[in-house]
Amino acid sequence: MHRKAIYPGSFDPPTLGHLDVVERAAKIFDEVIVAVGINSAKVPFLPVEDRVQGLQAMVSHLPNVSVMSFSGLLVDFATSQSAQVLVRGLRLTGDFDYEFQTALANRRLNPAIETIFLMTKWEHSYLSSSVVREVASLGGDYSGFVVPAVAEIIRNRITSR
Ligand code: PNS
Repeated sequence: MHRKAIYPGSFDPPTLGHLDVVERAAKIFDEVIVAVGINSAKVPFLPVEDRVQGLQAMVSHLPNVSVMSFSGLLVDFATSQSAQVLVRGLRLTGDFDYEFQTALANRRLNPAIETIFLMTKWEHSYLSSSVVREVASLGGDYSGFVVPAVAEIIRNRITSR
């Protein structure tokens, strides 16, 4: 069986915490699609093309990982890609209620698709896209939170504002 997983998220922007999760998922599954959810109701920090481009650079060393964007329901996207599993990262605190609720809703929507959780590394447990957005917006040094290609994309977006 070809084990194929979707690693979905907003990735606004992609962080080293996301990289850690996708590297570990790539060892467990034959194929992983990093899927950037397009939420038209929310104004993003980075446009979806920038997020896809940054993620592509971030996972370029992982031959079984690709990057796509999707709109609509995640379980429908997973079905369209013949993927059986959704992967989500879990940090120390705060994530559990939301993740549990969403995983249950997704299971109700499509019981054939399983959600699994990978615990982030201890050193990334504080890291989130919103921390990076805040630091970047306030002129702080975010280079320790993201890969260099993503740092450059953020820099270009901030200076073009
Ligand atoms: O990184 P995020 O912001 O937690 O990612 C959220 C994302 C994109 C995975 C989630 O919002 C999503 O799956 N959106 C698509 C709509 C959907 O299927 N929602 C779940 C049913 S409750």
